[in-house]
Amino acid sequence: MMIFKPKINVLSVAVAVALTGIIVGCNDSDDSSSTVKDNAYYKAQAESLIAKMSIAEQLNMLIGPGYDTSTWTINTAAVANLNGAVDGAAGYISGVLNTDEGVDVAAAVLADGPAGIRISPTRDDEAGTFYATGFPVGTLLASSWNLELAQEVGAAAGNEAKEYGVDFWLAPGMNIQRNPLNGRNFEYYSEDPLVAGAMAAAITEGSQSEGVATTIKHFVANNSETNRMNVDNIISPRALREIYLRGFQYAVENAQPWALMTSYNKVNGTYTSQRSDLVTSVLRDEWGYEGMVMSDWFAGDDPVAQLNAGNDLIQPGGVNFANGSDYTDYLTRVQSAYTNGEITDSVITTDATRILTQMLKTTTNQGVGGSNNPDLNAHAEISKQAAEEGMVLLKNSDSTLPIDTSKTIASFGVGQINTLKGGTGSGDVHSAYVTTIAEGLAKQFTLDSTLTSYYEAFYEANKVETTDSFGVSTVVTCDEADVSATDIATYAANDDIAVITLGRNSGEGTDRTNTAGDYQLTEVETNLISNVATAFHNEGKKVVVVLNIAGVIDTSWKDEVDGILLAYMPGQEAGDAIADLLSGAANPSGKLAQTFPESYDDVPSATTFTGEDTDSDGTVDTNYYNEDIYVGYRYYDSFNKAVSYPFGFGLSYTSFDYSGAAVASNTLDSDGAKGVVTLTATITNSGAVAGKEVAQVYINAPEVKLKKPTIELKAFGKTDELDPAASQTLTFSIPAAVLASFDADENEWIIEPGTYNAYISPSSDVSSVTAVTFSVADEIVVSTTTAGALALPDGVSAADFVTVSE
Ligand code: BGC
Repeated sequence: MMIFKPKINVLSVAVAVALTGIIVGCNDSDDSSSTVKDNAYYKAQAESLIAKMSIAEQLNMLIGPGYDTSTWTINTAAVANLNGAVDGAAGYISGVLNTDEGVDVAAAVLADGPAGIRISPTRDDEAGTFYATGFPVGTLLASSWNLELAQEVGAAAGNEAKEYGVDFWLAPGMNIQRNPLNGRNFEYYSEDPLVAGAMAAAITEGSQSEGVATTIKHFVANNSETNRMNVDNIISPRALREIYLRGFQYAVENAQPWALMTSYNKVNGTYTSQRSDLVTSVLRDEWGYEGMVMSDWFAGDDPVAQLNAGNDLIQPGGVNFANGSDYTDYLTRVQSAYTNGEITDSVITTDATRILTQMLKTTTNQGVGGSNNPDLNAHAEISKQAAEEGMVLLKNSDSTLPIDTSKTIASFGVGQINTLKGGTGSGDVHSAYVTTIAEGLAKQFTLDSTLTSYYEAFYEANKVETTDSFGVSTVVTCDEADVSATDIATYAANDDIAVITLGRNSGEGTDRTNTAGDYQLTEVETNLISNVATAFHNEGKKVVVVLNIAGVIDTSWKDEVDGILLAYMPGQEAGDAIADLLSGAANPSGKLAQTFPESYDDVPSATTFTGEDTDSDGTVDTNYYNEDIYVGYRYYDSFNKAVSYPFGFGLSYTSFDYSGAAVASNTLDSDGAKGVVTLTATITNSGAVAGKEVAQVYINAPEVKLKKPTIELKAFGKTDELDPAASQTLTFSIPAAVLASFDADENEWIIEPGTYNAYISPSSDVSSVTAVTFSVADEIVVSTTTAGALALPDGVSAADFVTVSE
């Protein structure tokens, strides 16, 4: 039995994000203390097994055997050597049992994420429960900017996968939050590729230390849900490279995820799963990816093109026996394609070898795990800690927060009862419980029981249970209660402070809308805020809003209240984590990994999202990414658009001084593509309570040939918990590859000559930060890319982009 041990943890908060050396994958065979073997070791094993397998057996591994739902069936004839089905798994990879040849590879089990392991909490043929920990959603985790913590979450989720018999975790989701209305943004990390890439690498490091493959997804540009299986996203090669691919590149180069999932959408005219320039030239030849590639479920329109492109595994495969539909039996289709010569032995063997190599690393074939008894209590603690570190204190006038626990809180809003741990769809997790905000607050404060009982009764009477559009989650919705101004005045007279919870769900399969009840507040919500604010302020009392939301909403009401805690979707420990932050038992240290604009109309893709119906058939089919590289803060900052809360922003109950910002070294001129710029700054806790600070490094680069966003995030770091008056010096490394921009005309990543301004800053608002500078004498070509890869379709040119303006 192979024992998987985590590699030494090299994620140091004192060392900021860098492209090399920060996150070491489990691919290091020369560490004699580790039994973890590198990819080459398993590849050699796979090759010797493949040599004993017939082409038919190899081909059988390339098509999933289906999955078990009310409408889908596992093709039991095709799923060879399955050790045991896991109820609620998203799919399988067929194994091989050929006793004559001595081949015994167990089928692998695939289960969703990213907020935990999505499996069924009960099993048809097995007693007991199989609950998984509901961790905070991706956006909240990213707001912690804490890579060690993300690694811990990855390890805890990986451990649950291992103990529940899951080999491949279909997570993390790491698409760029291009537009706030993308229905799956909550699963994703950030509008910035460095944050997304670093988080995905840390999660990968954690999960794979348990012997469970991560499957980074969705490669690439799955940035909206509307007609997601067919929409053609037209994106310039530069924007693809600098924004949409860059996080994937980071995760691949730093953590070597064992699996990657292509996306549903097309890019520049072709399904991503069918583009060999994407999954072979860019991913493997340029970035050195060693893992396997699987399709998203039912993606694309040509399995033969997928396999030929280097998309090794087609999921879920199988046949739709249960509902009698004739969804193409991909296995039969690929078998005939082989007979017809459309797919060669060499492609089949290459794809099968890649799949087998990764299967051999994972838990089932390693014979580890499977206790069905992970330490859910320990993981609940990690979930809570992650929730507390990721929530963002957006506003805190007159030190309204923290609230003294002797105070009586008037808690408004159905969200205190209908607390949302996460979004819906494949990203949902069946956790044993969710602590509601009302429950969490009641443990630490006195709640006005009349008011909370009112909300409990209102919720019971008005809740509506539905199944989400993806068909996997039960969604409970409940309109906001319309509490009268008179009643509110009574609570204001009786209670010490008001806390209003606003909730917003979101899920797979549909995009959000810029309407009341979604991005905008409803009239009832707006009135609730105004009436509570008026009544409590008349009494000289404060009002705090808790946002239990999937993503960005309108915040134009913010001046009416005294405090705002952005809780996002915090996982199963929601209520306790929120109460800890409101009481000061924990000090907020999260910062935004996405911008809150002043108005949705300010979003650079506001007019193009979700695309156009170019053939007037009633369905959006083409989505022009006209804002090009100007996504998120890259746009707001470059075009001087005021925002409600900038990227990187977040308050604390203490304050921090930044001092001694300096360029410690710069080896760009001497070492070229291998050069690194190192910066340092000392952060001092200048306030009265202990806390952590996230410091960010933004670079303003010279423009010689290429126009660039005014600033771009190039490194970040988070301090340890600093006691009052304590200091910590953070070191930030910016390798050449992270600094470079993409020159699409030359197919090169380059660093242009000139003076670079570096802002070591508490947020992307660098207006009051003094830059330190470094310079580059001559242009540096950091790497050369595949000519013609990912080209725009005929008739569209780069000049058609960057149509955003001030
Ligand atoms: C989603 C994937 C998910 C898969 C399996 C698809 O609809 O896009 O993210 O992993 O289903 O459930």
